[in-house]
Order: sequence, then C-alpha cells, then structure tokens
Amino acid sequence: MLKEITTKTAQETHDLGKRLAQKMKGGEIICLEGDLGAGKTTFSQGFLRELGAEGALTSPTFVVMKQYAIKNKILNLKNIYHIDTYRIESTDILDLGWEEIIKNKQNIVLVEWPERIKDVIPSNTIWINFEIVDEEKRKISIS
Ligand SMILES: Nc1ncnc2c1ncn2[C@@H]1O[C@H](COP(=O)(O)OP(=O)(O)O)[C@@H](O)[C@H]1O
Ligand SMILES: [Mg+2]
Repeated sequence: MLKEITTKTAQETHDLGKRLAQKMKGGEIICLEGDLGAGKTTFSQGFLRELGAEGALTSPTFVVMKQYAIKNKILNLKNIYHIDTYRIESTDILDLGWEEIIKNKQNIVLVEWPERIKDVIPSNTIWINFEIVDEEKRKISIS
C-alpha cells in the first residue's frame, strides 16, 4: 500500500485524480476498483482534465471505451483511454486493440471494473481501490 486517503466530497476525489495525473510519465495503466457510486468516474474526470482531455468527460459505461487525444506541453502523450469493462470481458477488450494500446508508452489507460479483465492486465499496473464509507466519505487506497 502506497497511500490511503479519505475524501469528504466529490470535489476532493476529483482533485485527487488531478494530483495523481501530475505524477504520470506515459505508459501507465491504472485500475479503479470499487462499487457503483464509489467515485471511480469522478476521480477519472479530474485525472483526464488535468492532463488536457477536452470535451465532456462522461462515463464510458455505455460505450465501453473513450479515447481522448492529448496535447500535453510536458509529457509526450498521445491518448488517454478511459475504459469501463462492466458489460464486457477479456476477449472483447482484446478485440478493441488492448495489447496495442497498453504497449504504447505515449498512452495512459484508466480501467473501471478491472476485475472483469484481470487476465489481460499486466503486473506493473497501479491499483486504486474506492470504498464507500458513508454518503460523502470515500476511502481511496493506491497501491
Ligand atoms: N467523497 C466523494 N468522492 C466521490 N464521489 C462522491 C463523494 N461523495 C459523494 N460522491 C458522489 O458519489 C457519486 C460517485 O459516482 P461515480 O464517480 O460515477 O462513481 P463510480 O464511477 O465509482 O460508479 C457521485 O454522484 C458523487 O457526487
Ligand atoms: Mg463509473
């Protein structure tokens, strides 16, 4: 366990996403675990915005995968992929070009519901667990 933080508002979770984004170099895979409403998408939106993703940062639940072209002055980034595997399984994510996406160091990949595609997730992945403590509190563990 690297870090454990309790956020008291959605804004704090959004800001935590921004702070983690500032540590990125390119090539990271970040898996976001936790129940529905735990804050995975809220965190992702802060993360995406911080790295310069434009437009509406809506949840990928219904489209499975959203691709954001990134122009970042500091990092040599190409795309950030925001994936929600709630409705799919490993074979489907492979069909969407998973292997190509994760091997490109100019990409960053965020995955909600990673447990559904566990067999294709590499070992050097950053895992973040979101736990609902109460209505407004979320315990967020990064490892
Ligand atoms: N501390 C908090 N962190 C994140 N979300 C919170 C927090 N407190 C309340 N919320 C609310 O919980 C919901 C989280 O939704 P979302 O980020 O879509 O979760 P998930 O993607 O894990 O299903 C939002 O409606 C948000 O406003
Ligand atoms: Mg979500």
